Amino acid sequence: MFKELKSILGATKKEINNQKYKVSHNELRYDKSSDLVRNMMIKNFNFAGKRAVVLGGTGGVGLHTVNQLVDCGCEVIVIGRNKCKYDSLFSKYSDNISFYQWDPLKNKDYEFEIKELVKVYGNFEIYINCMGVFTEKDKKNDWGLVNEIDLLDSFNSNFFVHYLIETVVANYYKKNNIKGHIVNVTSITGLHPNYGMTPYGLSKAALIHFTKALALTFAKDGIVVNGIAPGPIATSMGNKKENDSIFNSNSPNMRIALPEEIASTIIFLASDIASNMNGTIIVSDGGETIRGHGV
Ligand SMILES: NC(=O)c1ccc[n+]([C@@H]2O[C@H](COP(=O)([O-])OP(=O)(O)OC[C@H]3O[C@@H](n4cnc5c(N)ncnc54)[C@H](OP(=O)(O)O)[C@@H]3O)[C@@H](O)[C@H]2O)c1
Repeated sequence: MFKELKSILGATKKEINNQKYKVSHNELRYDKSSDLVRNMMIKNFNFAGKRAVVLGGTGGVGLHTVNQLVDCGCEVIVIGRNKCKYDSLFSKYSDNISFYQWDPLKNKDYEFEIKELVKVYGNFEIYINCMGVFTEKDKKNDWGLVNEIDLLDSFNSNFFVHYLIETVVANYYKKNNIKGHIVNVTSITGLHPNYGMTPYGLSKAALIHFTKALALTFAKDGIVVNGIAPGPIATSMGNKKENDSIFNSNSPNMRIALPEEIASTIIFLASDIASNMNGTIIVSDGGETIRGHGV
């Protein structure tokens, strides 16, 4: 099996054995120092000469997405609200990565912000949305406890801003004849309801619908819009830090995803290899939804 994996993915047996999450199920731990996925991406993807914009690039999935894009030769502009966090995460990549400070929940002139970003950094052909919010209010199990403000909070962060920004991005691609890619990070909770996650799940379901609708509308212009629906991921949103257990009894593969695994699928969708895919949502959940329920 290792032989096949090596030929398919370019990984050695030693590299695979070194992944702590490959040890026995009770010992499944998140090992941030592993470079296996990253090394595979460098070998297989080339983004030289391309420029990508990543919203939420300072989060768990976003950070790995930015790192892998840069490793594959892409220039990346991270949209974020926290410059200090960006500086602490990305100082070593100063040449190919830049920061565009913007909190789209606060500054709602989306057209102005995208124009400004292009004015400062130049045209881009990849837009990736890794922004998302999941808070305590999303865990309220009693339907009577969820009020209009809770619903609006989820929809504002996980759907409305992305609808409005990506409409601007798609029109910008069209106007400038850019055969661009847009990738949304959704969730399996947007595909299958789960107890106590309804506001979040609804907002992700809306994002999934929007991804398809945007793809449908702009496909004739050569614009490609896709999404990924992950199950639980080892990030701060999933309450995980380095060396925490990633064991997950809900999932057939007995673990949650690593952020770098989600990032590599995002990058596949952002690449020209995926140009014939449009309005597709790739599920990456270790098989969790085979049984028909989400998290
Ligand atoms: N973790 C999971 O278990 C899981 C499962 C399924 C789907 N997802 C989805 O995967 C995506 C990435 O999540 P993650 O796990 O990487 O979470 P994360 O580590 O909490 O990252 C979330 C990102 O969103 C950014 N963000 C939040 N509100 C923002 C705002 N108002 N303006 C600008 N940026 C804002 C955060 O910026 P700051 O750095 O400034 O906070 C951060 O970069 C999200 O869409 C999430 O819903 C996550």
